[in-house]
Amino acid sequence: MDHFTYKSGILHAEDVPLPRIAESVGTPFYVYSSATLEHHYRVITEAFTGQDAHVCFATKTNGNKAVLTLLGRLGAGADVVSVGEMRHAIAAGIPAKRVVFSGVGKTRDELTAALSLGIAQINVESEPELRALSEFASAMGTLAPVALRINPDVTADTHDKISTGRKENKFGIDWATAPALFRLANTLPGIDLKGVAVHIGSQILDLAPFRAAFLRLRELVLSLRGEGIALKRVDLGGGLGVPYHRDDPSSPAPSAYAALAKECFGDLGVTLILEPGRLIAGNAGLLVSRVVYVKEGAARKFLILDAGFNDLVRPAMYDAYHEILPVEQPAPDAPYEPLDVVGPICETGDLFARQRPLPPLAPDALVAFATAGAYGAAMSSTYNGRPLVPEVLVKGNRFDVVRRRPTLAEMTALESVPEWLK
Ligand code: LLP
Repeated sequence: MDHFTYKSGILHAEDVPLPRIAESVGTPFYVYSSATLEHHYRVITEAFTGQDAHVCFATKTNGNKAVLTLLGRLGAGADVVSVGEMRHAIAAGIPAKRVVFSGVGKTRDELTAALSLGIAQINVESEPELRALSEFASAMGTLAPVALRINPDVTADTHDKISTGRKENKFGIDWATAPALFRLANTLPGIDLKGVAVHIGSQILDLAPFRAAFLRLRELVLSLRGEGIALKRVDLGGGLGVPYHRDDPSSPAPSAYAALAKECFGDLGVTLILEPGRLIAGNAGLLVSRVVYVKEGAARKFLILDAGFNDLVRPAMYDAYHEILPVEQPAPDAPYEPLDVVGPICETGDLFARQRPLPPLAPDALVAFATAGAYGAAMSSTYNGRPLVPEVLVKGNRFDVVRRRPTLAEMTALESVPEWLK
């Protein structure tokens, strides 16, 4: 579900025609719909009505300050994976008490910052991290609120690079040795053992792996209870997939996910923490780009855009599919032909879509990549000397630039030439 629709033959973000934004900020740019962000936040929170559950938006998905502020106002917390994300989320108005900190390689500086800021939970992923945290918290005379992230060894049917819950992945504490680590956490100074966490991967379209992981968590909570270790929180991570093809019904309904959580944890009297990212932001954003050339190659016809994989890396990195929508609505009888849609970057991998059927598009036409609100701008880079593109937030008939395009001087401001080269 989103708020990007054709009105009078032109693709709009809510009530704003995309060409108007393109005129104002230039291309490429990201545009987010506040109504879609809000809608998806409400869908997931309402699915959990009646359960003690808190949504901590995975800020790695889309860390724009305006997006975080909007979600924070609605009541969202934040799942962060670095001290940068942590400070940014708090600066966007999300209270530290609603922030959870995940990640396999948290440094001393990051852990002590988390302790000083008083965040809600640190998801510890290994014994060395647990011992280090115990030492830092003790030295600071404080208690670290800890959940141990376990690796449940379940296989989720998603892209290999974003599957995290198998035993050969770097994430979490091995399922078999986890009980011993809970016992240790329960006795170490400086550690306030709050719960258990899991995150099995991203863009998961089937509830079965969630069920397998949740049942393992349930078993663990019950057996630890039997030993007198009472866990009060269960953090389910993120991972619910979204449709990348419009009208694709295959992604699981948040209500079914919530029902599964209730079935697995409803009788345990625990607080649930959810870390959705893509589910909230994915369909709330477009990347809008302009056609530079249409090139007839020897074997293929290319649509060359002014956006490259530095702006949206998902197709190059994960072979991900993004719908490409012409901003000017094609006539019903428009002839479609297969095109390779590419960017200007000097790599063959700068390919958004292979042999994608598209209607006629002339130079200067605008196209929009759908479902680009999650892991789009967040994963962009300045490769090939290309500035990060502007981000725009739409609400009704207004739009605001929430990240402007940097100047070349700003892009190079941190670089310097040593004296001996001058
Ligand atoms: N919690 C943790 C601990 C995570 O590592 C992640 C994502 C999430 C929550 C949010 O997962 P989501 O609800 O968005 O699936 N760049 C990749 C996705 C990487 C996901 C990394 N972790 C992509 O573009 O598909």
